[in-house]
Amino acid sequence: MEIKKVAIIGGGTMGSGIAEVCAKSGLDTIVMEPEAAAAEAAQNRIDSSLDKAVARGRLSQEDRSTTGALLSYTTDINALGDRDLVIEAIVENEAIKLELFKRLDEVTPEHCILASNTSSIPLINIGTATKRPDRVLGLHFFNPATVQKLCEIVVSIATDEAVVVACEKFAQETLGKETIRSQDRAGFIVNRLLVPYLLQAISLLDTGQVSAQDIDNGMMFGCAHPMGPLTLCDLIGLDTIKSVADVLYDEFKEPTYAPPPLLKRMVAGGLLGRKSGAGFYKY
Ligand code: 3HC
Repeated sequence: MEIKKVAIIGGGTMGSGIAEVCAKSGLDTIVMEPEAAAAEAAQNRIDSSLDKAVARGRLSQEDRSTTGALLSYTTDINALGDRDLVIEAIVENEAIKLELFKRLDEVTPEHCILASNTSSIPLINIGTATKRPDRVLGLHFFNPATVQKLCEIVVSIATDEAVVVACEKFAQETLGKETIRSQDRAGFIVNRLLVPYLLQAISLLDTGQVSAQDIDNGMMFGCAHPMGPLTLCDLIGLDTIKSVADVLYDEFKEPTYAPPPLLKRMVAGGLLGRKSGAGFYKY
């Protein structure tokens, strides 16, 4: 089960990062967005990231050209007829994902593995939207995908072990990532631990007893985290954190996963973090 040709669906923050990792690893990589403007935005995002890597001396001009040539962009799902692996990284909306996987099942070859970068939606629901639930699994990357070493592999109750092993080999040997394996339970491994911590930081800020900067400095200088929890919330996006918390709470019904009032109000007010220009900090 050799993976040489991949497609990434969705060229937002995560999708473009994953596509960049794939192309830099020498894979023929198609980025698909349904609208031409979004496909162009994805191309600009990836191009400027590659240019930055060259400017910082992390990528040679020659490797920049090779990587660029391996990337192509499309709005046509029928262009995915020769892919070995598709990784979906679209909006965290179950109905939209299920519709997409139904189409992917129709247009991709039988051997193609269909993966989702979902951080919260059950992989078995995605798998059963297709006629090949045994070839559907989660490949969960972390933000920024070009930097974070982890790929969390999420195995549904229907996923074939041979597919899991092929994806582990692909993530480790081709992409140079570390992998961990999780069963298909909300939050998998990392978000199940990380999200309650982030929610606690937001609740602590909401007490008014401490400042955002002191919460962040506490975890950076006391525990050597690369960034504090509120800065991390702004990086991930507050809407994403809320939607993961909602799914975790729905699955386990434990107060530790319930989105705190301040998070709900900030999302309602459009304070989503870096991507909206303001969250716990201004950008
Ligand atoms: N996008 C892309 N690349 C970025 C970036 C961004 N937003 N921010 C930084 N980078 C890159 C830089 O270009 C640089 O790359 P280079 O070494 O090739 O030049 C490298 O990261 C280091 O950047 P800096 O030196 O400017 O900054 P730091 O050393 O402070 O590192 C950081 C920045 C990598 C973001 C680091 O602070 C970090 O690892 N923070 C924790 C992030 C984290 O926890 N992510 C997981 C989120 S959870 C998730 O994604 C799951 C989801 O389901 C919710």
